[in-house]
Amino acid sequence: MLRLTAPKRLRGSITVPGDKSISHRAVLFNAIAEGNARISGFLDAADPRSTLACLRALGVRIEHEGETLRVYGRGLRGLCEPADVLDCGNSGTTLRLLAGLLSGQRFFSVLTGDDSLRSRPQRRIVEPLRALGAQIDGREDGDRAPLAIRGSQLHGGSYDLPIASAQIKSALLLSCLTADGPLSLGGRIDSRDHTERMLQAMGIDLALEAGRLVLYPPAHPVFPYPVSLTVPGDPSSAAFWWVAAAIHPDAEVTTTDVCLNPTRTGTLDVLQAMGAQIEIHNRRNEGNEPVGDVTVRSSGLRGTRIDGALIPRLIDEIPVLAVAAATAYGETVIADAGELRVKETDRIAVVVEQLGAMGATIEPTADGMIIAGGGELRGADVDSLGDHRLAMALGIAALVAEGETAIHNAQAVEVSYPAFWEHLHSLVEA
Ligand code: S3P
Repeated sequence: MLRLTAPKRLRGSITVPGDKSISHRAVLFNAIAEGNARISGFLDAADPRSTLACLRALGVRIEHEGETLRVYGRGLRGLCEPADVLDCGNSGTTLRLLAGLLSGQRFFSVLTGDDSLRSRPQRRIVEPLRALGAQIDGREDGDRAPLAIRGSQLHGGSYDLPIASAQIKSALLLSCLTADGPLSLGGRIDSRDHTERMLQAMGIDLALEAGRLVLYPPAHPVFPYPVSLTVPGDPSSAAFWWVAAAIHPDAEVTTTDVCLNPTRTGTLDVLQAMGAQIEIHNRRNEGNEPVGDVTVRSSGLRGTRIDGALIPRLIDEIPVLAVAAATAYGETVIADAGELRVKETDRIAVVVEQLGAMGATIEPTADGMIIAGGGELRGADVDSLGDHRLAMALGIAALVAEGETAIHNAQAVEVSYPAFWEHLHSLVEA
């Protein structure tokens, strides 16, 4: 349990850890590349470590020293049948991307995870993968892990995504790398595009054709090429400091080397619309991703509406945006975000309950929440319920609350941002 009280000032500069989505992909895609790659800035946290452990169990040699990795790629057909069940821990990205990749291999594998991951829906990947020829079974007719995969020859095909999910999109694209025909994806393909960017950099023929994403399985065994890269900072981690600086009365915080991929910057757009003072400097490209430094200062925020096409661009930041909304002037409505109900926790229920305990006036809806705003938060006994983003959002709420906040299960930050509490204290003491 962690106890926090509001500091007088917040000042400083934070290099946030490497992007979680890009870290998973960098190691996973290089594991099936034809050659070796060096990855720096890797997120050394529980979720990407789950991906590393699974890949090692599939026969991939990976040297890992803190944030630097060397991955010895085995090619598209070089993975080995694992001797045991593959444990994806808390990581939906590990389980879903591996399910896509392993469906087209020539061996049997089983994917499982912790209590949270085993309670999350998997039909969203299992159904379209089965339509491409995959043999997958699992609890509740394949909707819940453990998932048992009998690798088989997959076929290309066409599928329209009903949900804007990068995990579904990526699982399908990876399954097609060993298929006997091209895959065409339409519908909600507007989720984060790190998979597309990285596979293109590896020489895979993947492009938008008449508004559909089309991947042709590589015909020549030199593909995919390995790609060495520096993983940029995670905007979903930086967002905690952006909100902290915007809502605290005496704050100026800079986050450096943050990934500014437009499929990930919805939080900056929303904070700007709420009146936050934001400056972006040092814009550049790193790997195949736009990067920059972001400075946020104390700002008087007003309520806003967060819905529609914005949602996939900020889905993981909604818990901390709810903290911003609770202290803003006027009402904030969050809609079209039903996906929050199937994240690491039901993030609509949990945000309403925990921020409610701190005095926020906040109502759940089927696909979002309505936050009255204008309220003074007060310290309370709150609980992350094991959800990393909840633990951090509650930590940010505590920075502006009256009195002491006690956060139970604060160690959940290990999943994506192990240095979070240390970074928080560095801003307070600076
Ligand atoms: C991720 C995709 C998103 C996001 C998750 C990471 C990824 O999930 O919430 O934290 O790396 O592909 P969905 O694909 O389920 O939207």
